[in-house]
Amino acid sequence: MRTCLFLSSAIALVVLAATTTTADAKKTFSKVSSYAVPNDEINATGYFTLIDRETQHDGTRLCSILDRGETKVFRNLWPANRSGDRLQILRRNVHDESHHGGSHTHEENFDSKEAKDLFELNTNSKEWTLMVDKFLVDECDQVKDETLNNGADVDFWGSPGVSESNQQVFGNHGSVSGLQEGDEVRKLVDNGPDRNRVDIVFMGDGYTLEEREKFFADMNRLVNDMFISETFQSFLPLFNVHALFRPSKESGIGSNGHWKDTSFRLYRDGTELRGIYVANPKAAREACRAVGQYACDFPSLIGNDPYYGGLGGEFVISTSSNKSGTIVLRHELGHSLIDVGEEYDGGQVYSGVNAERWSIQNIKWKHWLTDATPREEKNVLRAQDYAWYDLKKGPYKVKFNSDGNWKRWSLKISHSGVDTDDSFEVYLDGKRLNWTSPGGYDRDFSEWDGEEGFSAGAHEIEFRQGAKYDDEPVDGSRPIRQLCSVTMHEFMGEDQYRFDNSVISAYPTYDLYGRKTWRSNHEFCLMRNMSSTQFCSICKEGLWHRLLSKASLLDEIQVDCQREDDDGGDEKVSKFEIEAKLIPLGQFREDQSKRVKGEAYTFRWFRNGIHQAKLDDQIRIEVPAADEGTWEFKAEFITPEVRKDPRGLLKASKVFVVAKHLCSN
Ligand SMILES: *[C@@H]1O[C@H](CO)[C@@H](O)[C@H](O)[C@H]1NC(C)=O
Ligand SMILES: *[C@@H]1O[C@H](CO)[C@@H](O)[C@H](O)[C@H]1NC(C)=O
Ligand SMILES: *[C@@H]1O[C@H](CO)[C@@H](O)[C@H](O)[C@H]1NC(C)=O
Ligand SMILES: *[C@@H]1O[C@H](CO)[C@@H](O)[C@H](O)[C@H]1NC(C)=O
Ligand SMILES: *[C@@H]1O[C@H](CO)[C@@H](O)[C@H](O)[C@H]1NC(C)=O
Repeated sequence: MRTCLFLSSAIALVVLAATTTTADAKKTFSKVSSYAVPNDEINATGYFTLIDRETQHDGTRLCSILDRGETKVFRNLWPANRSGDRLQILRRNVHDESHHGGSHTHEENFDSKEAKDLFELNTNSKEWTLMVDKFLVDECDQVKDETLNNGADVDFWGSPGVSESNQQVFGNHGSVSGLQEGDEVRKLVDNGPDRNRVDIVFMGDGYTLEEREKFFADMNRLVNDMFISETFQSFLPLFNVHALFRPSKESGIGSNGHWKDTSFRLYRDGTELRGIYVANPKAAREACRAVGQYACDFPSLIGNDPYYGGLGGEFVISTSSNKSGTIVLRHELGHSLIDVGEEYDGGQVYSGVNAERWSIQNIKWKHWLTDATPREEKNVLRAQDYAWYDLKKGPYKVKFNSDGNWKRWSLKISHSGVDTDDSFEVYLDGKRLNWTSPGGYDRDFSEWDGEEGFSAGAHEIEFRQGAKYDDEPVDGSRPIRQLCSVTMHEFMGEDQYRFDNSVISAYPTYDLYGRKTWRSNHEFCLMRNMSSTQFCSICKEGLWHRLLSKASLLDEIQVDCQREDDDGGDEKVSKFEIEAKLIPLGQFREDQSKRVKGEAYTFRWFRNGIHQAKLDDQIRIEVPAADEGTWEFKAEFITPEVRKDPRGLLKASKVFVVAKHLCSN
């Protein structure tokens, strides 16, 4: 399976977030009035200026913008430092499609080193991200004014170097439209306001009008498989999931490089059950944005197709296959949500929290290791082959050599179209291996393990379709009988290479070119073992960090003024009721059976900088009217799934003013 060869724009845009976020709607109770805390009264305006735009010879456009967060510049709801205006230069490359001869992807990449650095610094505002995105679309993607002033040393404030027309000021967004007649959006998982949740949008392709209910049934199945059951279960309160149905004229998705008349034009390159591409990304982008102002964090396209296939990247792509759809989707979502590369051998991208290229001594997951001192688990990759071989053409052989120094081996393959036990044969050094069909035509996986090492010298694995099928006429309606991929490893004994999936160590992974990186576990993680429903501990920690860089643990602080009677005046305010609304995790999970053991929030209240210890561990407090002042709420989330939090993402705090004169009638 191919995966993310480029950053998705959803990922990349986070990088731009210069921050902000706070409460919006507040409930009003009878006899009680509410007010917005002072920080919320500031209009969420931002100023961006395009200072440089350059189209390079390869069609890449490089835009630099200055982002001046004039208003809500704060981190994790920390108040703005309004005197210190932030200037940031953000860049992005836009590959002009016309220079690619009509190629099917529109890649959006950021200068990744710089972007990553910014990302490390910045935080969790979707609002800001959207504003920057709109600005980039208007000013960078759609070239209007080529006579742009190259303002290298722009003094932002009233700078003469920048013309007014290149500066945009944003206020509140209007509602987003872009849904078409016949579209239907359903919110399948609703855990709170989109603006402070991580939102996934599933968009179907190749579902006709008549297949509307099949679409929603497929989406419910995928969501249940992934979010309600194991994989994303502990993270569920951070997610919203939306499904967008847009009827296609034709049913199914294209193959052999041709798409059908469908909403987003998904297609396979050939006939093999592997990558699925999108030929109309613009329509998909617009449709996703139309789902809601803050709803389109991770767009996902699901092809109405019963077989394996997908891709990571800007869009997470999978199929409705009831056998492999979930398997592909959770793996591809892993790439996008955690921003990690592969863990299986023979891929191209090995990056992110789960891959270490340089040093075992300073391995990224040192804090997770089973052993006090890091060590490498000893194995060797003997054969690795993306065969994509049509077995109709005759036997297929994979040859390899061993030096005779190893103790165990494991052969892993994937195949498709082999639906019966007599349809496929595997031989190792001429000896037939036991194999039973997993049933059906879909791509699937088989594995054999040997408890002895190979002798020194040459060895051979041979794959054939069952002899009785050799004269079978071609049936174009079903997937071909195909050998998809092969890996053969040799291992040392359990003392030097631990198969035990609870062990966290340095396990070698070899890429397409034989280069080695290390991963953290043998075959536990679904980024390696497609049958697994679990991420490894390192990926889970990375996922918490990633999600909490998009959403704050603290939704809002609500302050209600309680009056003795309801005839108005400030003087009648007798007390304040203050409530912190946290994303329901730990002790606040609605379903405590989903609570990870040891998971909890702790929190503290401060008034005028003084810790109010007696209020600790209350989420809703009452304070007398005399206790006006500058208050602060600080929360911290503790979970065994996170051992390190260098950016303080598991903390949230907010300063707010409690004062009678802020109570309205
Ligand atoms: C917010 O924007 C509105 C409309 O532009 C304006 O009238 C108001 O004064 C602004 N408020 C603040 C606090 O800047
Ligand atoms: C506010 O920003 C200015 C300029 O960056 C800085 O000098 C100052 O220390 C900041 N103040 C606070 C309280 O962070
Ligand atoms: C799964 O999909 C196959 C092929 O479309 C179908 O024949 C089978 O009935 C489905 N199984 C379930 C449990 O839905
Ligand atoms: C192959 O399967 C048969 C029947 O299930 C079993 O008796 C035999 O031991 C198996 N051979 C190997 C090498 O696993
Ligand atoms: C892959 O994961 C599945 C499901 O957890 C597990 O049963 C299987 O043993 C794993 N494979 C290996 C080689 O450990």
